[in-house]
Formats: sequence, structure tokens, C-alpha cells
Amino acid sequence: MLDNLVKLREQFKQELEAVEIREELESIRIRFIGKKGLVTSELKNLKNLSGDMKKQAGKEVNILKNDIEQSIIAYQKIIADKEYLAEIEKSEKYDFTIPSRSNMGSLHPITIIQKEIEDIFKTMGFIVEDGLEVQTEYNNFEAVNIPSDHPAREMQDTYYLDNGQLLKTHTSAAQNAIMKKYGAPEPGKPLRVLFPGRCFRNENLDASHENTFFQLEGMMIGEDISISNLIYFMKVLLSEVFKTDVKVRLRPGFFPFVEPGFELDINCLICGGDGCSTCKHTGWLELLPCGMIHPNVLELGGINPDKYTGFAFGLGLTRLAMMKYEIKDIRLFNSGNLKQLKQFTI
Ligand code: PHE
Repeated sequence: MLDNLVKLREQFKQELEAVEIREELESIRIRFIGKKGLVTSELKNLKNLSGDMKKQAGKEVNILKNDIEQSIIAYQKIIADKEYLAEIEKSEKYDFTIPSRSNMGSLHPITIIQKEIEDIFKTMGFIVEDGLEVQTEYNNFEAVNIPSDHPAREMQDTYYLDNGQLLKTHTSAAQNAIMKKYGAPEPGKPLRVLFPGRCFRNENLDASHENTFFQLEGMMIGEDISISNLIYFMKVLLSEVFKTDVKVRLRPGFFPFVEPGFELDINCLICGGDGCSTCKHTGWLELLPCGMIHPNVLELGGINPDKYTGFAFGLGLTRLAMMKYEIKDIRLFNSGNLKQLKQFTI
């Protein structure tokens, strides 16, 4: 029987080498290890043997069966590759040098500009934090000095969930958690954090209002942070982003969480200041509300307002992208219109 196994192994090897197509491989498989196959019948013959002979032959026949199975699996792959290549050769039109027509992905313009600003601020020692989109009413309003009866809430109507939480109306909703996370800064090491995020408000949609938009907020807290620090950082930011001298103006602005508060406007880069639908025909775009963090807000965040001061700014990222890429209608951003969105590349 052992001789027979050696012969079978040799025979299988020869036949396998001659195999060209899938069907031939299958018929070899059946002939050798199928139910009535040559190796299978050797297995059945084992019962006629006895003692050591049975043991040794049993071992050998199982090894052979296993080897054959493995060889067949390996050959299946070889044949599949061969078939694939043959298929390609058959279709003469196949030209590997033609560029792909598949839909290559591209970054969303908001993502591009967000990364750009993050990079600018990272070089100035800022950490980037991720704020939650679903927030508690406390974080979104109370913690930033907007109590429930405050009229500022009216301008920030939003979407409330059944559990009482809401879709955040501004990135400032993360201020409190960030202050608590990092605590009071060490001397000479002001806390510098950037927190971009998607915000939601109940808006009447038009060319410059969307119910879903992006902001990018920044905060710096230390022992002697002043308005001049704020102005410096805003100037660096805008000149880097627009790579040109943009005109800016500062107006007093009211936000319950800053004191004093400002509106930083830039001249409308779409119409050059003549007036268009994006700038509501004023020639200016409100781009960057900012100010010195209100003592109440610091206190609620666990930071002593008698010792520390800080500035905060809330950049309208969507609006900035409109300016930078000269996009006239804010609704484009969430439209999913690939033809338009794919035009923006880094
Ligand atoms: N959170 C404010 C808003 O969305 C913007 C802001 C941020 C203003 C930080 C001042 C300082 O309207």
C-alpha cells in the first residue's frame, strides 16, 4: 500500500502540471480525493490492514490527502490569475495608461479652510479640541452667561431633542468644558485652544443664511492677556488666510460672554466693497465676533477672573470659505453638488 501511495503522489503531480483550465482541476480533484477517488479508496482500504502497518499507512495516506488538497487550493489561485490576464488580453481596448474615470474624492471646501487655519494656529502654540454637536442647554447658554430669560437666546433658536439637549448654536458651547478640562494655566503658559465645529440654528434660508454652518472658535487665557493680543492674532490669521491685505474694521458688538465685545468686519472680497447679495449690499462682511472673556464665564469654568483674563473669537468658517473661494450662495456647502464641490482642491 505504501508503494501505491508513492505512485499516486507522482501521478497526481504529473496530472496537475498539465492542468490548464478550472474544469480540469476539478476533475483531478474528484478523481483523487472525491468520494470514490483514488486516495479516498486507499483510506477505505486501511480497514484491511492491521497493527503497525495500519498505523503507518493511515498516517501516510492522510498526509497525501492533505497535500493534494493544499496543491489544489494553490492551483485554483494560479488558474484564477491566468483567467484574469487572459480576459484582459482578450479585450484589446484595455489600455492601462488611460487615466481613471472613477470618481476620485476631494476635500470639502470647509475642511480645506479649517485645516489651513488649524495649521496657522498650531504654529502659534494652539491645541485643537473637538466640541460636541449635541449639547446641554447649560453648556450652550448658561455657561456662557446667557440665562434662560436672556433675549440673546431668541437669536439662537435651535433644534431641541426629546431629552432636553440641543444642537449647539455656536462653538462657544465648548468653552466651559475646555476651561474645566485644562484648568487655570501655569504662569507664562497661557491656555491656547482652537475648537472648530458644526453649528445649527433655526434660520430662514437664503444666499447667506443656512440652518447648518461651521464656526471656528479660539480662546486664549492667561495672567495678562489683553485686547492687543486679540488684535495681533486676528491680524496674523486674516493675512495668512487671504494671502493679501484685507481691510478690516472693528465695531463694538454685544455678546453676553465677552466684555468688551467686538465685531470684526472685512471688506467683501466678492464685490470688492461695491455691495452684493452676500454682503447684503453693505460692502462689508461680519466675519469675526470677538472680545475679552466675561468674568462670569471664567468663573463658571473654574478659572479665577481676578487673576486671569482671556480673549475669545468665533470665526464664521462657512462665511470665510465663501469669501476665500468667492462662493455666492451659502447653500452650496450642504448641497452635495459634486460638480461644484469638487472644484476646490488644496
Ligand atoms: N458664539 C458667538 C456667536 O456664534 C460668536 C463669538 C465667539 C463672539 C466668541 C465672541 C467671542 O454668535
